[in-house]
Amino acid sequence: MNTLTIDIRKAEPRDAREIADVHMEAWRGAYAGIIPHRALSSMINRRGADWWANAIRRAATVLVVEIGGNIAGYATIGRNRARELRQQGEIYELYLRPEYQGIGLGSRLFAAARRALADNGLRGMVVWALEDNANALAFYTGAGGRDIAEGVEIFEQRALKKIAFVWE
Ligand SMILES: CC(C)(COP(=O)(O)OP(=O)(O)OC[C@H]1O[C@@H](n2cnc3c(N)ncnc32)[C@H](O)[C@@H]1OP(=O)(O)O)[C@@H](O)C(=O)NCCC(=O)NCCS
Repeated sequence: MNTLTIDIRKAEPRDAREIADVHMEAWRGAYAGIIPHRALSSMINRRGADWWANAIRRAATVLVVEIGGNIAGYATIGRNRARELRQQGEIYELYLRPEYQGIGLGSRLFAAARRALADNGLRGMVVWALEDNANALAFYTGAGGRDIAEGVEIFEQRALKKIAFVWE
């Protein structure tokens, strides 16, 4: 039997290519049939390796979960952007490659993201998820999040509802 080590760490510019792949696979898997096709493709195409290398070099904090040396998922975190919510931290994105979903990696990455925000002195945390993304709603509810606010995102004239989950 092979033992695979699981590691969660800050992303480095050399991870950009692999994170772009994870992003593409995870977003297709999560949003095909929810976000209109053209809008989804253009969101994916904008986020190539160069985009990620830039994000990693700049202020954004990107965490990756690595299993057996492969990047299985990523999270981006920082200051809460919604002024109407008093929580200070936010997980902007948390995505795993489809083949690595459902085996506990998301929970580990989530816990690490939450810890990193707290270590940066940010109190409380927000995560937004599209209402149609049933897996994400189940995941954040299971992780103890309280759904507290609603918003709307427009994709190609299609309005999709989003839900904010908070942790104190
Ligand atoms: C949502 C996501 C981050 C969860 O990570 P994960 O590693 O798959 O989840 P875990 O294996 O850690 O499971 C944690 C809990 O989430 C719930 N969950 C995870 N996947 C689920 C699914 N497909 N259906 C229903 N519940 C699910 C389970 O209740 C599980 O609880 P349990 O431990 O009591 O079984 C991951 O599946 C993912 O990246 N999905 C696609 C992208 C996405 O939707 N990201 C969130 C955008 S806001």
